[in-house]
Amino acid sequence: MIRVLVTGGAGFIGSNFVRWAHNAHPDWQITTLDKLTYAGRLDNLADVAESSRHRFVHGDIANTAVAAPLVRESELVVHFAAETHVDRSIQSAADFITTDVIGTFVLLEAARQAPALRRFIQISTDEVYGSVPEGASTETDELRPRNPYSASKAGADRLAYSYWATYDVPVIVTRASNNYGRNQFPEKVIPLFVTNAIDNIALPLYGDGLNVRDWLHVDDHCRAIDLVIEQGTNGEVYNIGGGNEVRNVDLTRRILDLTGRPGSLIRPVADRPGHDRRYALDTTKLRRLGWTPAAEFESGLAATVDWYRRNEQWWRPIKEKDQAFRDYYKTQYGNRAGA
Ligand code: NAD
Ligand code: TYD
Repeated sequence: MIRVLVTGGAGFIGSNFVRWAHNAHPDWQITTLDKLTYAGRLDNLADVAESSRHRFVHGDIANTAVAAPLVRESELVVHFAAETHVDRSIQSAADFITTDVIGTFVLLEAARQAPALRRFIQISTDEVYGSVPEGASTETDELRPRNPYSASKAGADRLAYSYWATYDVPVIVTRASNNYGRNQFPEKVIPLFVTNAIDNIALPLYGDGLNVRDWLHVDDHCRAIDLVIEQGTNGEVYNIGGGNEVRNVDLTRRILDLTGRPGSLIRPVADRPGHDRRYALDTTKLRRLGWTPAAEFESGLAATVDWYRRNEQWWRPIKEKDQAFRDYYKTQYGNRAGA
């Protein structure tokens, strides 16, 4: 059996990856290490809860006593754990530094002493390139992160690279575009807008709504990570983009169409400070390894909307009963003036 450590496996992408990898790799013995922050949910891992090939460890990646032994026993580390929401990083950046930068440092230090380790996958993000007015970012482009989240991720991204260059830790860095799909926490734009639309509540669209994101289905992301594990080269960076550039206002309209709600639900609100205008990735390098995204955005979004409709028991408790989420929502949107 191949011993695999997945950090942040109770979150959105991590749990999709654990489920996907558990099915795809019968020879993987997977350990999930997760702190279960507001974004981590054990029920995201329900499909593997009974499996003898999966173990859950509740702990903080920044805690050496917990994290280092797990890294040292692994052949493969897939490091998703992070604070991930840009708006929260603007409200308060401290947890982003502690988890995304120092947590990654703790894992990398342990990786130096992991005798069987053959891959350390640093899950980075396209946001490290900063706003891209035209064209598409290639892996060698300069990093210009512009908010505390993307700056923390850029720090972790380059720290991981430095551990390959300096200590020969078998690091590969992936930079994916915005993901969508099941189990995404309802603070991110798609699940927030879908669940608001289901409830006939206003959709707070930042600024002029013309910011562009490139949407990647989470299943395509999982396949790409798997391919990079199998065929990537240590020390390299791989962009993973869905090739679906959509303006926020158009995304919002599609969500309203799919939920049968009127355009009057759109509420233009004051812009996010430092709001990156556009992200776009050149994925030639990954495509050379044989990857292409399979999901078509229209049907992938429709299936995602359908998942949120069928799984109200997953998101209603967060939006309606979780006081921390309600406080966050109030701070973020309560006094937000119109755009
Ligand atoms: P998420 O917020 O849904 O989940 C993060 C998970 O990490 C949660 O389960 C949380 O409990 C856990 N975690 C947080 N701090 C921890 C700590 N100190 N120790 C252990 N566990 C901790 O995030 P996501 O959207 O699934 O993103 C996963 C990774 O992918 C992140 O590294 C993120 O930067 C990256 N990424 C995300 C996107 C996207 O669109 N969501 C795009 C590109 C890259
Ligand atoms: P988000 O899901 O927060 O991802 P990221 O900022 O990491 O790209 O936001 C996606 C886009 O949607 C981004 O341009 C900001 C915008 N947005 C809104 O217009 N309103 C909202 O309430 C949120 C959360 C995001």
